[in-house]
Amino acid sequence: MNVVVVGAQWGDEGKGKLIDFLSKDVDLTVRFQGGNNAGHTVVVGEEEYVFHLLPSAVLHKNKICVIGNGVVVDPKALIEEIDGLKKRKINVTPKQLKISDRCHVVLPYHRVLDGLRESKRENKIGTTGRGIGPCYADKVTRCGIRMGDLLNSGLLKSKLKDNLKEKNEVFRKVYGQKNFSFDSIYKEYLKYGKKIGPYICDTALFVNQSIDKGKAVLFEGAQGTFLDIDFGTYPFVTSSNSIVGGVCSGSGVAPTRIDKAIAAVKAYTTRVGEGPFPTELTAELRDELQSKGNEFGATTGRPRRCGWFDSVLVRYSVMVNGISELAIMKLDVLDGMKKIKICTGYKYRGKILKDFPSDIEVLWNAKPIYEEIAGWTKPTKGVQEFDKLPLNARRYIDRLEKLLKVRIKYVSTGSKRSDTIIRD
Ligand code: IMO
Ligand code: MG
Repeated sequence: MNVVVVGAQWGDEGKGKLIDFLSKDVDLTVRFQGGNNAGHTVVVGEEEYVFHLLPSAVLHKNKICVIGNGVVVDPKALIEEIDGLKKRKINVTPKQLKISDRCHVVLPYHRVLDGLRESKRENKIGTTGRGIGPCYADKVTRCGIRMGDLLNSGLLKSKLKDNLKEKNEVFRKVYGQKNFSFDSIYKEYLKYGKKIGPYICDTALFVNQSIDKGKAVLFEGAQGTFLDIDFGTYPFVTSSNSIVGGVCSGSGVAPTRIDKAIAAVKAYTTRVGEGPFPTELTAELRDELQSKGNEFGATTGRPRRCGWFDSVLVRYSVMVNGISELAIMKLDVLDGMKKIKICTGYKYRGKILKDFPSDIEVLWNAKPIYEEIAGWTKPTKGVQEFDKLPLNARRYIDRLEKLLKVRIKYVSTGSKRSDTIIRD
């Protein structure tokens, strides 16, 4: 069984926990897009781990983790992550981690350009500043440098020279910056190549051959559906396809080999960075969700914007991702709230919208239509059986299931592995 897990909102849905949990039953986990803009948190016992580039299943010693070709890799960040785990006595060996030779490499000028572009833009995106957008841009403009190039000094030299010739001119003339030095980047990245070299291979071949042998694969999405470059709230999106469709181009595994798609969704909604957010809350309720849910970015530490559950948004997500099972995460954060709202439609210029609009103007001005349900006083935190949830919490889940027309199979009631309800 080969399964995909994606986020159904704007990222940070709790994919890390869900993937760590689901990966018990698979042999391989594969990242297929994004880069170290992601921040996936996994809690094991008293220990908390945050992964940016490494697949969240890396804590399972006997699982193989793959960074597929669709991911952009900042080698410096990757080495820091591997070394960080080593300090915590977790050794990530080349047998356990495979990185595609086709992955595009994040270079220092991508990170700098990410920041400069943001500072110049009137309408800021609020990127993570990790150089993700500029790196994907180079991939598409066909001047990118790939992981495999770091193992070939001659090729790296000529590609880097070509890039710097153009980029330094832009940095100087457009942004008034100093030149990047060829020598220092070249040396630095050759060194990374030496260090990461043993992990690099043709991962499309590796994953497909593993499937041929009957191995089960879990594809780990980063970001979320509404940060997808095509289906997200463009231009307030990331630069890759974070929907299920991204799996095929980002890993080299065909759609015919994928059996099931699961989406993680928060019991409410959050968003980091700029862009429209129809159910966004302000004042006390926002602060309450933010502090109870510890809604601060795992990558940049920025406070996350918070709002009610938006069924218009998630229903669209269920459609574009072909979701057959949903996992509702962080239900316990709603514990103790007197009233809980669910958005069931938008009002725009006197009209009622039932489907998520692609027009950003409409979205900026759409007013959510809410349905209100009573909250629950008994905590859901740590509950492991559906029947033991307070009645109103069960009603909330049932209502979401009806609105979304999809099975809610998992409910997370805390950050620990055991705080998970699985429904038959
Ligand atoms: P995980 O995998 C939440 C957001 C940024 C910004 C926009 C573009 O942890 O869910 P980028 O640096 O990608 O060019 O920024 O995307 N963003 C995320 N928001 N969770 C993430 O990842 C995100 N990765 C990027 O805040 O609005
Ligand atoms: Mg995150």
